[in-house]
Amino acid sequence: MALLEQIPVAVPDNTFAIIEAFKADTEEKKVNLCPGIYRDDNAKTWVLPSVKKAREIIQADPHLNHDISPQMGYPDLVSTARQITFGDTLGSRSITSMQTIAGTGANYLIARFLSCVAQPKTVWLSNPTWENHPKIWRHTNPAMEQRLYPYYDYKTSTLDIEGMISTMKEQASRGDVIVLQACAHNPTGLDPSREQWEAIANVCEEKGLFPILDSAYQGFATGDIDNDGWVLRHFATRSNGAIEFAVAQSFSKNFGLYGERVGALHVVTRNHNTAAKVEATLKQISRAEITSTPSFGAKVVATIVQNPDLREQWQQDLNTMSGRLRDMRRRLHGELTKRDTPGNWRHLLTDIGMFSMTGLSQEQVTTLKDMFHVYLLPTGRLSFTGLTTGNVEYVAESIHQVITL
Ligand SMILES: Cc1ncc(COP(=O)(O)O)c(C=O)c1O
Repeated sequence: MALLEQIPVAVPDNTFAIIEAFKADTEEKKVNLCPGIYRDDNAKTWVLPSVKKAREIIQADPHLNHDISPQMGYPDLVSTARQITFGDTLGSRSITSMQTIAGTGANYLIARFLSCVAQPKTVWLSNPTWENHPKIWRHTNPAMEQRLYPYYDYKTSTLDIEGMISTMKEQASRGDVIVLQACAHNPTGLDPSREQWEAIANVCEEKGLFPILDSAYQGFATGDIDNDGWVLRHFATRSNGAIEFAVAQSFSKNFGLYGERVGALHVVTRNHNTAAKVEATLKQISRAEITSTPSFGAKVVATIVQNPDLREQWQQDLNTMSGRLRDMRRRLHGELTKRDTPGNWRHLLTDIGMFSMTGLSQEQVTTLKDMFHVYLLPTGRLSFTGLTTGNVEYVAESIHQVITL
C-alpha cells in the first residue's frame, strides 16, 4: 500500500461544509445565517469605505514596495494594534506585540508559545465557545487537557457567572490557561458585565491562571472600540500590573479584512526582561512557521488608524455595521414575538455582536434547512449578518413553523 493510502479521513469542518451546502442549494429564498462575516442589507459582502480610501492611498504611494516585514510584523500595524487594544492605559507595563495571521493565527501562536515555554496542564474554554478554539489547542498540543467552564445557561439564555466562578475556584490549578472572549462572545453574543469581569479577573489572579483574551470583535459589538475594549484595559491596569496575560487580536471583522488575514498577539508581562525573552521565543516559532506576516492588509489597517479622516470614516463604518446588526436583532425579535413563537427571545435584544443562540435543537436546525432553506450552525447559533430587511419575516416565519410543527 502506498504511504498516503492508509491515512484516515479527517472530519470536515462544520462551518465550511455548510458554506458548500448553501452554495449548492438552488432555492431562491435560501438564507445563510451561519457565517461570521458581515454582509450588508442585500446579503452582500461589504467593503468598508475607509478600507477603499486606504487602498487608494497605498496604491498611489510612489514608494510602495513589496519588501518583507520585520519578524515582529509591519511596524505601523504593530503599534496601531497595541493602540486599539490598550489605548493609553499601558503605562510602563512590559508588552511584546507581534503581527499574526489574523485572529486564528494569534490564538494559534499563543497556544504554541505556551506549550513550548510553560507546558500548562489544562486549557479552560467557555461552554460553548468558538468552534475553532478546541481545534487549535488540540492541534497545537494534543496532550493538553481541555476543560470547559460553565458560561451559557441554556435554560435562561443568561450568563452562568456563578457556575463559571465557582468552577474556576474549585477546579482550576495554578498555571492553567483560561481562554476568555473580550466582547461579542461567539457563539452566544453574551458578555460579562464590568462587575462580572472584575470577579473573573480576581479568580485568574487568585488562582494564578494565564488568561488569553480573544479579541475578535472590538468595535463591532457596540461600535465603540474603547467600550468594547474595556476588559483588555482592565486586565492591563489592575493590581499594579501583577497579572501576566495575552490578547489574541483579529482585524478581520472590525475592518472587514477577512481575506487579508491581519491580526496581532500581545503578551503582557511584569518586566522588560521577561518581555525580551517572550519576543525571542515568538520570533523563533514564527520563523519556523511563516517567516513573516503578509503586509498588504497590515498597511490598510495602519493607514486608516493613522489618518484622522480615515479614522473618522472607520468609526462611521463601525457604526454602520454594529447598527445594522442591532436593527436586525430588533426586527427578528419583533417578528417572533408578533407570532407568539414559543421560546425565550428577549435575549436577542440584549445579546451583542453577530451571534445569538436560538435554542433550536439539531433536528430543528436540519428541518429549517430541509424545509425552508434557512441555514444555521447545528448548535442553533444564528449569525445576524445573514438577516436583511428583505428576509427577516421569512426567517421568523420559518423558525415559527419549525418550532410549532
Ligand atoms: C472568537 C473568535 N476568535 C477568533 C476568530 C478568528 O478570526 P480570524 O482568524 O478570521 O481573524 C473568530 C472568528 O470567527 C472568532 O469568532
